[in-house]
Amino acid sequence: MTNSTSHQRLTLVTGGTGKTGSRVAIRLRQAGHPIRIGSRSAEVPFDWADRGTWTPALFGVDAVYIAYQPDLAVPGAPEVIRAFVNAAKANGVRKLVLLSGRGEPEAVQCERIVQGSGLDWTIVRCSFFAQNFSEGAFLEYVLAGEVALPNGDVPEPFVHADDIADVAVAALTEDGHSGELYELTGPRSLTFAAAVGEIAAAAGREITFIPISRTEFVAALTEYQVPADVVSLLDYLFGTVLDGRNSQTTDGVPRALGRAPKDFRDYTHAAAAAGIWNIQGE
Ligand SMILES: NC(=O)c1ccc[n+]([C@@H]2O[C@H](COP(=O)([O-])OP(=O)(O)OC[C@H]3O[C@@H](n4cnc5c(N)ncnc54)[C@H](OP(=O)(O)O)[C@@H]3O)[C@@H](O)[C@H]2O)c1
Repeated sequence: MTNSTSHQRLTLVTGGTGKTGSRVAIRLRQAGHPIRIGSRSAEVPFDWADRGTWTPALFGVDAVYIAYQPDLAVPGAPEVIRAFVNAAKANGVRKLVLLSGRGEPEAVQCERIVQGSGLDWTIVRCSFFAQNFSEGAFLEYVLAGEVALPNGDVPEPFVHADDIADVAVAALTEDGHSGELYELTGPRSLTFAAAVGEIAAAAGREITFIPISRTEFVAALTEYQVPADVVSLLDYLFGTVLDGRNSQTTDGVPRALGRAPKDFRDYTHAAAAAGIWNIQGE
């Protein structure tokens, strides 16, 4: 059932050009819901690091999809989320949908701020995104034919960004999702080594998984001049979130949508068919 009250006002989609936000934005537009993209390059620029950009971005907004940057687990994130929630309330926002990370105690702090906001809320707490291999940090590795990561033998139930977007859009536009915390995973856990194997099979290319230690991982990222804050975030993720604590699959997608989540194979076949892993000139 669609809300009748939210039609005239905007939904602010933060990270609206990113992995989940772009999908949320497309779905909302297709369903005829007016949206505003919340990102630094948007028509009305929005920057998590510049509070002066928040009020213009929140003008006329009824609901917000919160995809915080760089990650809810970074120091200072709860303070920013608290300030943003207060700004949203002050600007008449009614509904918040928070994208969160599984197994991150720091993200739970941010969830609690949203849950205690007094606004309608839905939490979408996700496992590691499949799209990190095609739209994120690991695309370059895949294109180079060598994916060198720590914790290669830890199973992870990679979640498809389409499923995240479907749940977020349901929460933003339908009744029945307020006060729900959906923990989203794919239907199957597979190790990073196996995931790379499935990508290689779908792409029809040789792509080797190389198990390395966290120390080697940090050294390699630093050598490639990855910014220090990104290095420490990735090191944190592989040291905590991706240590096996999140290996179990969940029923979050069926509970929210009444259908099965997409399999990692659905992802690899679609990404390969779209040519994302083709090497230039091939
Ligand atoms: N990746 C995962 O596997 C994973 C798993 C669970 C949870 N999460 C959560 O997902 C969120 C990150 O998502 P993601 O990794 O997929 O990134 P992403 O959404 O793909 O990030 C890119 C988007 O963020 C915008 N952006 C970047 N810096 C910004 C800033 N300072 N202010 C405003 N917008 C900014 C970009 O647009 P502009 O460049 O135009 O600003 C773009 O729209 C985090 O909150 C994290 O906790 C991620």
